[in-house]
Amino acid sequence: MSCRHCKAIAIEEHFDQKYVAKELQLYRTEGPENTTEALIDALIAEGVSGMTHLDIGGGVGAIQHGLLRAGVSSCISVEASSAYIEAAKEEAQRQGHAESIKHQHGNFVDLAAEIPQCDIVTLDRVICCYHGVEDLVEKSSALSGKLYGVVYPLNNRKVRILGAWENLTYRLHRSSFRFFMHPTEVVEDIVRRNGFERRFYREIGTWQIVVYGRVAEPVKERS
Ligand SMILES: C[S@@+](CC[C@H](N)C(=O)[O-])C[C@H]1O[C@@H](n2cnc3c(N)ncnc32)[C@H](O)[C@@H]1O
Repeated sequence: MSCRHCKAIAIEEHFDQKYVAKELQLYRTEGPENTTEALIDALIAEGVSGMTHLDIGGGVGAIQHGLLRAGVSSCISVEASSAYIEAAKEEAQRQGHAESIKHQHGNFVDLAAEIPQCDIVTLDRVICCYHGVEDLVEKSSALSGKLYGVVYPLNNRKVRILGAWENLTYRLHRSSFRFFMHPTEVVEDIVRRNGFERRFYREIGTWQIVVYGRVAEPVKERS
């Protein structure tokens, strides 16, 4: 199955079978990236037992497996790359989690209206692959009932230079895939407006790892 919009945003072209096979091999031999590991640990520290999970752009499924092992009841994985979907299904089978993960192929922004609310929503290194940060963060944080976890690039001079260099190499290779460095304030404002507060923050290399928790509704006094 292929999605026209995922082709238009060059996701299918960039995250192709060759790229994904390497990522799957790396995950199997070395485990999750250190940033992913930090996000999984921070979510588990909040208490995830019995919760449902929506993973957007989950790649091979590292967060899904980490959280299922920690007691999460089920996951929905929305992924724009068909090569990643196939690899994630194979990995879910290998780890005995096939029954607990529902895979959906496509651009999350287009599919959001048909996806149910989940307790935990995660986007690990996804915000920098997508042009429409407002839509992506607005629609994904609105679907989280309890925890919202993101890994995305720091907004500083070093990352801007690295990003410009990366985009130049894509242009030279005639790829229409692009790296997007969206301002931290844009992400932060949307998530806070949707009712969340920061519970965890850590920087690793060029990445920021943030876990937000839904702010409890103030208890109304009886008159
Ligand atoms: C850099 S990879 C990260 C994969 C994985 N989360 C990890 O950290 O290893 C970005 C992933 O986000 C997915 N992605 C980007 N934009 C998306 C969107 N709008 N909807 C669904 N998936 C998206 C890509 O297909 C890709 O799998």
